[in-house]
Amino acid sequence: MTDRHHKALEAVAAAISAAPDATGAMESVVRLLPAHLPSYTWTGIYLLDSNELTLGPFVGKPSPHTRIPLGRGICGAAATEKTSIIVDDVNADPRYLACSIETKSEIVVPIMLDGDVLGELDIDSDKIAAFDASDRDLLERVAALLAPRLAAATQ
Ligand code: SME
Repeated sequence: MTDRHHKALEAVAAAISAAPDATGAMESVVRLLPAHLPSYTWTGIYLLDSNELTLGPFVGKPSPHTRIPLGRGICGAAATEKTSIIVDDVNADPRYLACSIETKSEIVVPIMLDGDVLGELDIDSDKIAAFDASDRDLLERVAALLAPRLAAATQ
């Protein structure tokens, strides 16, 4: 990870442990990530609700995709395949569900606990190929920190 990514992780980790509840933890994540990483144009969290992803806290323009069935979109693919997905050019990916015409690239990282998907981190950028292994490492660590908070909230 770059220095910038390390600083983002430090800030996010501190905020998640200080957050009073899962909602507060998620709100801190979507606020702090783009504050440290300016190429993150839209930063949001989807939560899995039976077989649909429902939009939780986000920073960026309102999205028309507030509910995404598991079989649809890059979000649905990441949750179904239980793996992070980086798309360098969303317009070249037939799975892509458009959120904004300015979006050029996207990364989706599942939030999982014990192999179960609880939700996802979804980041869009107006830059082509904005996301690399540093972003995936950072976001997978953030997802691992968020997972127990989300699991505790749904018990
Ligand atoms: N692009 C996503 C949909 C969500 S918006 O990016 C906020 C997808 O293809 O699943």
